[in-house]
Amino acid sequence: MADEPLVLGIETSCDETGVGIVRGHTLLADALASSVDQHARFGGVVPEVASRAHLEAIVPTMRRALDQAGVTIADIDAIAVTAGPGLAGALLVGVAAAKGYAVAAEKPIYGVNHLAAHVAVDTLEHGPLPEPAVAMLVSGGHSSLLLVDDLTAGVTPLGATIDDAAGEAFDKVARLLGLPFPGGPPIDRAAREGDGAAIAFPRGLTAPKDLAAHRFDFSFSGLKTAVARWVEARERAGEPVPVADVAASFQEAVCDVLTAKAIDACRQHGVETLVIGGGVAANSRLRVLAEQRCARHGITVRVPPPRLCTDNGAMVAALGSHLVAAGIAPSRLDLPADSAMPLTTVSV
Ligand code: KG4
Ligand code: ZN
Repeated sequence: MADEPLVLGIETSCDETGVGIVRGHTLLADALASSVDQHARFGGVVPEVASRAHLEAIVPTMRRALDQAGVTIADIDAIAVTAGPGLAGALLVGVAAAKGYAVAAEKPIYGVNHLAAHVAVDTLEHGPLPEPAVAMLVSGGHSSLLLVDDLTAGVTPLGATIDDAAGEAFDKVARLLGLPFPGGPPIDRAAREGDGAAIAFPRGLTAPKDLAAHRFDFSFSGLKTAVARWVEARERAGEPVPVADVAASFQEAVCDVLTAKAIDACRQHGVETLVIGGGVAANSRLRVLAEQRCARHGITVRVPPPRLCTDNGAMVAALGSHLVAAGIAPSRLDLPADSAMPLTTVSV
């Protein structure tokens, strides 16, 4: 509908430079430039390299998004930008660019939370999010369960990882299996040839004594160590490492815990909708297992298409569009980038 707000979103919190454009819940453009290849040989994102890559990519990516959507900056109703959490230098590039465009084109600016944007992006695929919903955010930097009463007003954290994030566990396990960075996609692929029940890896924080204090929290560091010990034992014995079985069994342990805790959170709060976001939501096993287990409990699960699960500009535009539609006031032009922005802050 032409009277819905036309919102442009800028994402630079990690290694993807993203510019997306939406009208209401309709995705018009999603331009992306990734510096992932420049980080691969370091086995993780190097902040300085990411910042420099954003600086080089931001203007061309902006142009591509506007071209794709067939609009000019003058047509845009509001500019949304990831203000945090993320890498400080990387965030600064996006925030500075957004301010520049906002001043030059005289547009309101919304500094938004990257994690809330991972939830909001699902509306581009599945329409308005029924609230309350439980959101599970699983990315390279975060793993959280949230209660979403009103995404534009804030979310209530229910639990989070007490050590590694789910994506981080995929990246670290990939590394010890000799698979490339980022580790999620190659583990996902290798696991398809393996048996998820081959090795009984631990399920963190699921024992009765842990559930008392950490019912909705996650822990993946023990799992990562268990995989490392298992692989080392094989190598010491001079036996080949069955990469596909290790990948599948590790992935099964992660997905088992994630889905079990997400469903428990839905049931505890009487919520019938689970939305999963963040890079790990692209995982094929997680998507299938969530669907199967939620169906058994009468819970509707919503997961964005894999391309929208990993970082992109469309998710920021989607959240911006929500905020504009809800009549939330824009941010001040001196809005800061906040690398540690709390989950409870949706916009600044
Ligand atoms: O959301 P995202 O793009 O960036 C952050 O905000 O962190 O998430 C990146 C993380 C990486 O750890 C990557 O390994 C993981 O998402 N990931 C996956 C898959 N695709 C990306 N993990 C498991 N399976 C996948 N298919
Ligand atoms: Zn992310």
